[in-house]
Amino acid sequence: MTALVDTFGRVHRDLRISLTDRCNLRCTYCMPAEGVPWIPKPELLTTDEIVTLANVFARLGIVEIRLTGGEPLLRPDLVEVVHRLSRIEGEHGPLRISITTNGIGLARLAQPLAEAGLERFNISLDTLRADRFAALTRRDRLDDVLAGIDAARATGLKPLKINTVAMRGTNDDELVDLVRFAQQHEAQLRFIEQMPLDAGHIWSRVTMVTGQEILETLSMEFSLQPCEGRGSDPAQRFVVDGSATTVGVIASVTAPFCGACDRVRLTADGQLRNCLFARDESDLRTLLRAGATADDIEATIRASVTAKRAGHGIDDPGFLQPDRPMSAIGG
Ligand code: GTP
Ligand code: 5AD
Ligand code: SF4
Repeated sequence: MTALVDTFGRVHRDLRISLTDRCNLRCTYCMPAEGVPWIPKPELLTTDEIVTLANVFARLGIVEIRLTGGEPLLRPDLVEVVHRLSRIEGEHGPLRISITTNGIGLARLAQPLAEAGLERFNISLDTLRADRFAALTRRDRLDDVLAGIDAARATGLKPLKINTVAMRGTNDDELVDLVRFAQQHEAQLRFIEQMPLDAGHIWSRVTMVTGQEILETLSMEFSLQPCEGRGSDPAQRFVVDGSATTVGVIASVTAPFCGACDRVRLTADGQLRNCLFARDESDLRTLLRAGATADDIEATIRASVTAKRAGHGIDDPGFLQPDRPMSAIGG
């Protein structure tokens, strides 16, 4: 079976599956306070459908599946999803399953997920201050997130990654504190440039803190040694003060990693997207429900990958934000 290679020679090995578009937070850079119109339940992929599609992707060289949302922990049968996906054979053995979560609910679920076969956790944490957390996410749940981080750490799955979207005037005075927090929790911290993916279309370059600025701020406090061998890692990583902690910068806007992109994504309603910023989707759910064979589905997946553009085009004149917000596309 030939791999999923696009017209730029990029080989696709990473599938991101959104398990739900719902979320228990309302981060201002993602959703409006009232939320967004949720995908109707009958349109969501069932667990059997997810497993069927994952088997097709595994035949095409996908080796890693990242579960996202919305908030993936809200999917009631998440542990079963992980159990079943982690038993699918990929090219180099069983598929590797990881999850990107806001951490709420992990205090209860981290251990069952680890036992089901999860490989590792990425947890979002933008601030260590409860009042800021409540303002930013419109929910007063910082303690739940911190308990979730502790529970993820207690499973021993490594590396534990923490994602922080850096925002001017919101959390840009906490960058050093967050690195210290990561050091204390033996986590890899990644600072992320804010991207134009919010439902309200309020993104602006003015509030985005650039990767360059982040590194300048951190360099005043820490010695940063670049890590070798980035591969398709979206983060440029640095060893902090010669310790075991690394800090990374995901500069999706000012220094895109599109040239090394190895990912495709499946939305919770079964639409295949070849890029976070893709304008077109391929409807795998309708194909599947119409009784398509694995070969038919494979042909559609290949066509989508072939149509993948070189980059996200945020700087192109006439750039249009995707018509769905990050919560619906899958982070
Ligand atoms: P690992 O490196 O495997 O740990 O995962 P990851 O960093 O790919 O996944 P995660 O869900 O933790 O994503 C971290 C951040 O990377 C997200 O918050 C996004 O800002 C960014 N990101 C993820 N996928 C894409 C993508 O396809 N394109 C761009 N431009 N940014 C992405
Ligand atoms: N820009 C960058 N990152 C974002 N995330 C959500 N919205 C945005 C955005 N507009 C991040 C979350 C989480 C991951 C799923 O995506 O903070 O770390
Ligand atoms: Fe939920 Fe993540 Fe969106 Fe925040 S960024 S509202 S945690 S989906």
